[in-house]
Order: sequence, then structure tokens, then C-alpha cells
Amino acid sequence: MRIYSRILGTGSYLPAKRLTNADLAAELAQQGVETSDDWIVERTGIRARHFAADDQGCSDLATEASRRALDAAGLAAQDIDLIIVGTSTPDMVFPSVATMVQHKLGAAGCPAFDVQAVCSGFIYALTIADAMIQNGSAKRALVIGAEVFSRILDFKDRTTCVLFGDGAGAVVLEASDTPGILATDLHADGKYKDILCVPGHVNRGGILGDPVLKMDGQAVFKLAVGVLEETARASLAKANLTDADIDWLIPHQANIRIMQSTAKKLKMPADKVVVTVDQHGNTSAASIPLALDTAVRDGRIQRGQTLMLEGVGGGFTWGSVLLRY
Ligand code: UT7
Repeated sequence: MRIYSRILGTGSYLPAKRLTNADLAAELAQQGVETSDDWIVERTGIRARHFAADDQGCSDLATEASRRALDAAGLAAQDIDLIIVGTSTPDMVFPSVATMVQHKLGAAGCPAFDVQAVCSGFIYALTIADAMIQNGSAKRALVIGAEVFSRILDFKDRTTCVLFGDGAGAVVLEASDTPGILATDLHADGKYKDILCVPGHVNRGGILGDPVLKMDGQAVFKLAVGVLEETARASLAKANLTDADIDWLIPHQANIRIMQSTAKKLKMPADKVVVTVDQHGNTSAASIPLALDTAVRDGRIQRGQTLMLEGVGGGFTWGSVLLRY
């Protein structure tokens, strides 16, 4: 009999500091950087984002989201036998955020590691956890997407600093004989590294290169729209389903225009797309589990429904997870 991995519980966490577009525009104006609520809403759909406090690291956000997911699943940290964190903004170069989360949750012993696939990080992490559950290496996994992108933004670059926010989302997966994750699909193409990257890195006690996010927005936009449709169709084909079978589309939350265009290609009405980009901005690897948890907790997503999760990000990386909730 096939072993599936099923979502037992979801959780998320947003840091307390919330900035509306107007708040951010006022802060940027003090540094001579001009933007407006109108521009940000019209081009991206973003209205607000959260930024972590100075003393909050990625692992703090991830731990809080994990506690909420464990509560929802009715489990304790000791019940978990695998922890994977999708992140590109870890507390340190090493050790991993996953090992920090494990310790902060009061657990020890189980494997814990990070996956670095930028905005596709949660999709990658979920796919790996699903494979480890299917092959018997794990029974109950904590899968997290967590980011503090505010730490890598250039607040003098209005083309990027208005787009991103901080946050974390988590799910508890359990081995089950009922579905479950139905299909997964992952891809990458390293030739696109320069259109979305943070080139700076630690080198001999200093930072070599510019340690802030650089993006060619239009190139990313075009690529994203194409690959999001392709990967959704690939997962559907693997599960022998069609776009009509999807109850909820939960895409990476980067830009409302990308989400609308993907939904249109998949012939999905706009009200079947979970949208949180308006309130969270782009939280990279955290965006999909944040959106998932939001729609689970507000009652939109019901047990037995079919969900299409899909992401795209720096690398370039992209992929999807089709699941029965
Ligand atoms: O998470 C990974 C995935 N990331 C993404 O999916 C991001 C994909 N890209 C995008 O979402 C969009 O390309 C952006 C939101 C980044 C930009 O939107 P756009 O419609 O492609 O605008 P643009 O770059 O063509 O810029 C249009 C104008 C420019 O002025 P000119 O040259 O026409 O005079 C920009 O200088 O808007 C100007 N502009 C701004 N104006 C006010 C750029 N940023 C801002 C800003 N406020 N924050």
C-alpha cells in the first residue's frame, strides 16, 4: 500500500511591526527615495508588510510558526522526527535554522536541515519531506518556510525594497494511508542567477560584494508566469487530474498580477486563489505556508479539498505540490 504524507496542522507567525505602504513611503522619503501607495498597489497588489524586530532572527519566527502548527496538529515537538526549513535568510552562515528551531522547541535527536531555494524553498522542503515519509525515513515532519528579507533589502532601491516582508509558516506532515500529497514537481535553471540574487558573501572576516537583493523585475515577471503554469500542469498530469479538480490555488505571493495571470492560464476564477500578498508583501519561502495557514484558519480550506501550491524564485528555481488537504 502506498504511504502518503498528510498535513496534520498548519501555523504561521508575523512579526509585530507592520508598515503600510504609506508608512514605508514616509520612511523612504526621509532618505530621498520617492514611492507611493498608488504605485505599489497598482503594480504589485501589496498594501502592507511586517518587519522583524532587531533582536528577532529567522529561527525565532520559524519557532513561533512551528509551535502554532504543532498545536493545530495536537502534537509535541518530541513527536517530530524530521525538521526542514526553507530559507535564504538564516540567522548565521551555519548552523542551520532547522537545528536552532529544534533546540528552541526543546527537542533533540531528529534530523534537521535547511533548504535554500529562495522563494521556492517551501515547495522544495515539502517535496523532500514527502519523499522521506514515503520511503519510511520519517513519520512526522515539521516543514517550515521562514524569512527575514528586511535584512537583505537596499532601502535606497525603490524597485525592490517596497516588495518584501518578513514572516514564517509551518506545516506538520504525517505518514498516512489516505492522501495526502498527490504529486510534486521541482525544477531549477542556474543560468538565470543574475536576475534575482544577493551577490555579497562572507569572505575572510569581511563581506565581499554587495550584500543586498538585486532584481531585474521584468525578467523575473516574464519567467515566473510561464513556469508557474508549466509546473502546475506537470503536477496535475502526474496525479491524473485536471485544472478543474483544483479547489484552491496557493501560489507564491510576489505580485497579484502574476497570480491573476497564472489563475487565468489554469482557468481558475480569482476567488479560488488564496491571496495574502496584499497584507504580507513577498515573504519568499514563507509566503506559501503563510497563505495556506491563513486560508485554513479562516475556514476557506476544508478537509478533503485539493490544493495546488506553487512557487518560483531565485536560482532560478520553481515547482509545485498538489495535495489533498
Ligand atoms: O519572489 C521572487 C519573484 N519576484 C517577482 O515575482 C517579482 C516580479 N516582478 C514584478 O513584480 C514587477 O516587475 C515589479 C513590481 C518589480 C515592477 O513592476 P513593473 O510594472 O515591471 O514596473 P517597471 O520596473 O517597468 O517600472 C515602471 C516605472 C519605472 O519608471 P519609468 O522608467 O517608467 O519612469 C520605475 O522607475 O515605475 C518606476 N518605479 C517606481 N515608482 C514608484 C519602480 N519602482 C517604483 C516604486 N515607486 N517603488
